Amino acid sequence: MGAGKISGIYLQNGAIYDGLEVVAVADLLVERAEEQARAHGVPRACSPEELFADPEVEVVLNLTVPAVHAEVSLAALEAGKHVYTEKPLAVDRGDGEKMLAAATDGGLLVGCAPDTFLGGGLQTCRKVLDEGIIGEPVAVTAVMMTHGPEDWHPNPDFFYQPGAGPMFDMGPYYLTALTTLLGPVRRVSGSARATFPEREITSQPLAGTMITVNTPTHVAGVMDFEGGAVGTLVTSFDVWSEEHSRIDIYGTEGTLSVPDPNTFGGPVRVWRSGDDSWTDVPLTHPYTENSRGLGLADMAQALRSGRKHRASGELGGHVLDVIHAFLDSSAGGRHVEVESTFDRPEPLTAGEKVFGGAS
Ligand SMILES: NC(=O)c1ccc[n+]([C@@H]2O[C@H](COP(=O)([O-])OP(=O)(O)OC[C@H]3O[C@@H](n4cnc5c(N)ncnc54)[C@H](O)[C@@H]3O)[C@@H](O)[C@H]2O)c1
Repeated sequence: MGAGKISGIYLQNGAIYDGLEVVAVADLLVERAEEQARAHGVPRACSPEELFADPEVEVVLNLTVPAVHAEVSLAALEAGKHVYTEKPLAVDRGDGEKMLAAATDGGLLVGCAPDTFLGGGLQTCRKVLDEGIIGEPVAVTAVMMTHGPEDWHPNPDFFYQPGAGPMFDMGPYYLTALTTLLGPVRRVSGSARATFPEREITSQPLAGTMITVNTPTHVAGVMDFEGGAVGTLVTSFDVWSEEHSRIDIYGTEGTLSVPDPNTFGGPVRVWRSGDDSWTDVPLTHPYTENSRGLGLADMAQALRSGRKHRASGELGGHVLDVIHAFLDSSAGGRHVEVESTFDRPEPLTAGEKVFGGAS
């Protein structure tokens, strides 16, 4: 559901993962669905209502824009379908909670992107941490700073509306990586600002169109993890250039350099106490290329076997809660306690392509 920019990679990968069969593509704009169905050899293109009514459909993959994630996911759950949604789980915390409750009531699963934490890079980091190679995590720094997506996305307006901005849009990659590596966040303090009230689109086909900015575009803050580590996160669409690494985790015995969490591969590097340079860690896990859809494949397998799925709605709900905590803290001038939690997903098996697929 939602045949826009990101649907291509899902359709490409969905066709090759074991246990997934793409039966239909739907969009509010049915001609868009038709175009994508044709391009990827999917047998059927239809309207949202027809998709919900289709008895062949077990899972709805929600690739709509963030503002309607909750509405579309709730409609799918009401129709008795499992849901896997692009991030964020919802815009409002309450809508996210409603989705999780509706799924529990209906005996259905909710999954939530990103699934990059299942890639070879971040799974290798998980193994390094679990094996105690850098000791006990003390702190982490995570930095995502760009000048926004209006120079490459075909329809970038939504990035500057409530429910988007750098924290809602890119924060989920960083927060999903950090929480699956370090566990839940307990408390947050943040500061936010919107620097440019208007943005000019320079990408095609809307080049020259102005966007009115209605959400913070620079959000920075500190997180206390339940396990004791202190994290710093900066997300920005206001920065022209920078020289920070994406994520570094500092332990009592050394530092782990974590790859860009918007990718599936490496590099992974460690610097242990007594070393005088970084050591590259060979990746221990597969899925190092763009493997979007891996979380959906994992959920499909979990659905059949009865085990827990990894890119869960519960995890997505915790990430959404932390995102709101940064903004609430900034608005209220105080620390914000994070009430939600999640069970840390099981690591994947090293060296084995458990879902099939090309990469
Ligand atoms: N573009 C990227 O690189 C990228 C990367 C990762 C994740 N995402 C996420 O994927 C989602 C979609 O992003 P995109 O870039 O593909 O956006 P997009 O604007 O290109 O596509 C969204 C599609 O959803 C359709 N749509 C909107 N409301 C709908 C509704 N109520 N019912 C059915 N269809 C509806 C639109 O017609 C459009 O075709 C967002 O949540 C975004 O955060 C995007």
